[in-house]
Amino acid sequence: MNLLFSKRSIELLISILTSLVLAGCADSGNDVSQVETSSKSAVFGECGSTAPLQLPCGFPLPREEDNNRLSMAKVELGRFMFYDRNLSFNKTQSCADCHLQEKAFTDGLTVSVGSAGHPHSRNAMSMTNVVYNGTMNWANNQVVNLQQQALAVITNEAPIELGWSGHEVEMLARLSTPLAQDYSTAPPDYPTLFANAFPDEAEKITLFTVTKAFAAFGSIMISGDSDFDKEQRSEPNTMTDAAKRGRELFFSEQLECFHCHAGFNFSDSVDHDGIRFTQNSFHNNALYNIGGVGLYPSDNHGLREFTLRPEDEGKFRAPTLRNIALTAPYMHDGSIATLDEVIDHYARGGRVILPPDPNAGDGALNPNRSGLVNGFVISTNERLDLIAFFESLTDWKFICRNDLSDPFGNTQKHTLCP
Ligand code: HEC
Ligand code: HEC
Repeated sequence: MNLLFSKRSIELLISILTSLVLAGCADSGNDVSQVETSSKSAVFGECGSTAPLQLPCGFPLPREEDNNRLSMAKVELGRFMFYDRNLSFNKTQSCADCHLQEKAFTDGLTVSVGSAGHPHSRNAMSMTNVVYNGTMNWANNQVVNLQQQALAVITNEAPIELGWSGHEVEMLARLSTPLAQDYSTAPPDYPTLFANAFPDEAEKITLFTVTKAFAAFGSIMISGDSDFDKEQRSEPNTMTDAAKRGRELFFSEQLECFHCHAGFNFSDSVDHDGIRFTQNSFHNNALYNIGGVGLYPSDNHGLREFTLRPEDEGKFRAPTLRNIALTAPYMHDGSIATLDEVIDHYARGGRVILPPDPNAGDGALNPNRSGLVNGFVISTNERLDLIAFFESLTDWKFICRNDLSDPFGNTQKHTLCP
């Protein structure tokens, strides 16, 4: 069963990858056709349009996969599944248990814990603007869209996340025939939801359709209405003078932050409709230097785990900084507790860890350290300004949006939501 399942999921992955490559070939040399494709989005539209979901003003159209054009029916189905704990093999965990809306879809833990109780080696990432990611996860150049990400999460065995592997038939049956006893309220009518979401599929409830619906819901988690955004667009806002001074620091050549946390999503790894080449960048921001030879702890080598190249040791994607004030602790392994300590880290130009800690070493001397992480002098007031700037990136509309919230009522909204 296990083997059969793995083989099927590999086949699925290959077919998704193939369709992606083919889509890429069809588009190459023709930027315009990509723009036309997504202007037909049934879901997204520019701000001020009549689309079901309006993008924040100035945001680019998300790229929609050719095999998963968005519809509100897919989004609605994906929302139920995202919050449904019966979709982990032992009925204990949903996606939302690691991606809580009140924490900008993170879990507040140093590293996540899967449904079977195993620790993940990494910190849960915010799902803010994931549809625009060039690559998914902290340092994985192999998972490039939300369908692939959903497949990875449900089938992962090391660690087990939702634990579908080996339980595939049973998991799909839970969707075909939802049991009243599994729910505290009326069970979602999954057969009808799938039929509405996938009118053209002969078989409605499959691994393919499940991953597509998860992807559809993930792709509407778009955040671009923070005080910072409103200030940039000259709309009424409450951005403080301190936050505006912090913005100047962030975008200064002295601090260099904006080179990697770049552009509309504060990340230099982005993809969206209308660009032909996705920008996938990975950087070593000098967190570790074990043994003085640039090593990172054994369970987190960063991009090197996929490329096998020594120079990729400790390289990670620069994540978005949107909603960053709500997503502590920080970094791929949750090893920095506060934004103040993040500033210490960059001001020093790398973190030093003293013996006898097994991870001892001076990150500033890491041979792979990015040339943009050089250290700087920052006063106490400037530090407060920078933190005020981070706080101005919190998008309360996003954190409180009803259409992103738990339809079962198991998870609370942020206490500041109306
Ligand atoms: C056990 C906790 C856990 C569960 C359950 C979980 N995630 Fe995650 N998620 C994580 C962690 C940890 C990461 C970072 C993984 C890495 O870098 O290897 C992550 C990363 C992601 C990302 C990538 C974000 C980015 O910016 O690259 C997406 C998208 C995502 N998860 C969606 C989902 C969906 C959809 C589900 C349910 C099908 C789900 N997750 C279930 C913990 C979890
Ligand atoms: C060379 C590129 C680069 C520069 C310059 C840079 N960062 Fe980063 N940043 C990264 C990478 C890569 C990560 C993830 C590293 C990891 O997890 O190991 C990161 C992580 C972070 C995080 C944690 C994000 C999270 O979700 O946990 C914060 C906060 C942050 N950076 C703020 C800043 C600030 C402030 C500056 C300027 C002082 C800055 N960065 C400069 C690349 C960069």
